[in-house]
Amino acid sequence: MSHLVAPSVLSADFGNLQRDIEMINSSAADWFHVDIMDGVFVPNISFGFPVLKALKQHAKKPLDVHLMIVDPDRYAQAFKDAGADVLTVHLEACTHLHRSIQNIKNLGMKAGVAINPHTSVNMLQDIIEDIDLVCVMSVNPGYGGQKFIEHTYKKISALKEMIIQSHSKALIEIDGGVDLNNYAKLVHTGADVLVAGNTVFSSKDPKQTIIELKKEGL
Ligand code: DX5
Ligand code: ZN
Repeated sequence: MSHLVAPSVLSADFGNLQRDIEMINSSAADWFHVDIMDGVFVPNISFGFPVLKALKQHAKKPLDVHLMIVDPDRYAQAFKDAGADVLTVHLEACTHLHRSIQNIKNLGMKAGVAINPHTSVNMLQDIIEDIDLVCVMSVNPGYGGQKFIEHTYKKISALKEMIIQSHSKALIEIDGGVDLNNYAKLVHTGADVLVAGNTVFSSKDPKQTIIELKKEGL
């Protein structure tokens, strides 16, 4: 499978959201990455259900919803109703991660687990066979446009090995600081999904930038 690209809506122009959604619809992008922040799990608040529902109305590609919130179980049904196709919860926010994952899958969504930069991929050993996606945070979550953390490559390699050994089908998603200089090495190391906010939306030609991010590189 060639890698997927998921532009992060967090970096879109919210005054022209429909225009930016149409841009992604007609681009080479695969998914919409949607960041939900509660101001508690992360030091920022993004947007909630009304915006997600508006997105769903216009988006013609799957919604990859990344929850940076405490107590995500409480809202899983509401995110399903709002149109999430993939629902990712943070390992650090879930006391009963296995239960949270089963709940997401029972609701008919793909289930993802995100890990912060300080969290070892080893923490996923006993859940890797149950999940559809691992979101490896390559910045500290909360904001777009931050600098990529180089240690991420080691985490991707270790995770790839774990996935192969366990015969898991989980995709490896990289979130934060992905750009045209590092994307090819990330894919080469084992990334399956690249999230890109600032790189896409602050470029002069976002559609062309998405095409670049889709290239094999290296
Ligand atoms: C950060 C978010 C990311 C963010 C990525 O907390 O989870 O999805 O939008 O933005 P860039 O690509 O600009 O680092
Ligand atoms: Zn994200």
